[in-house]
Amino acid sequence: MKVLWNDQIVDESEVKIDLEDRGYQFGDGIYEVIRIYDGYFYMEKEHLDRLWTSAEKIRLTLPFTRTELSQRLHRLAAEVGLANARIYFQVTRGTAKPRLHDFPDSAEVTPVLLADIQPATRPASKQNIGIQAGFVEDKRWLHCDIKSISLLGNLLALDEANQKGYDEAVLVRDGNVTEASASNLWMVSGGVLYTHPDGNLILPGIAKLKIRQLAKVLGIELREETFTKKELLAAEECFKTSSVAEIMPIVEIDDQTIGDGMPGPVTKKLLAAYIEAIELAVQAHQNEK
Ligand SMILES: Cc1ncc(COP(=O)(O)O)c(C=O)c1O
Repeated sequence: MKVLWNDQIVDESEVKIDLEDRGYQFGDGIYEVIRIYDGYFYMEKEHLDRLWTSAEKIRLTLPFTRTELSQRLHRLAAEVGLANARIYFQVTRGTAKPRLHDFPDSAEVTPVLLADIQPATRPASKQNIGIQAGFVEDKRWLHCDIKSISLLGNLLALDEANQKGYDEAVLVRDGNVTEASASNLWMVSGGVLYTHPDGNLILPGIAKLKIRQLAKVLGIELREETFTKKELLAAEECFKTSSVAEIMPIVEIDDQTIGDGMPGPVTKKLLAAYIEAIELAVQAHQNEK
């Protein structure tokens, strides 16, 4: 499989990562995942904006412009040739020897870019029936707004839920629901759509941005406010969102049914609109060519 390594497209076996790359040793890096539909990078600009925001927050100077990064990612996509896929790309701070916790001087270290593309398909059968989740205490750090490659807190939460037989973790901090292990979390209560406000306790999702727009168009009232476990269990509907899973209904939490245990009408309406928005964007892109 071909991958992007800095500014080169190489076979993955040719990539050499230094033992003292700070990403490898400290998880000192950031990443993004963009969903590609029929060759079109969906919401690319928003993902690149978030990468730059994450870089600023960890005081990392990216060694390329947005245009250069975009061109490299598209070059890889053309080389790999998968129409429906997801592209993962990460930037680590690079190699600094010897291993020291202190950030190296940015003039002395070159960040390392890596990207790979894997096939992706809409998880339609799961979207039709929903998934089961369990509550897990949110013990992650207080910079959840940074899309950091240090995901151990998220992985531990997911594993705790998996060990209890659930597909996903619904994270709870100080009694409030924050998000899921790799998705934003939503509930419909009294016909109103709720999700945790942006800030340092959640990742500002790109799918979340789209849901905001769609809720407005569909006339669904949206309140970005905190809510509790109890309020979520009493809700009519619950779902999570991410660029790869799109909108995924959650029909049970801690073995308690949400609503009637099936994806609800607001979730279905948003999912249909989400898919339509993708199709329109792909079409507009093809018409431009
Ligand atoms: C913790 C977390 N929250 C939310 C999201 C959803 O983000 P997006 O909609 O940009 O995929 C992700 C995606 O990886 C995530 O890891």
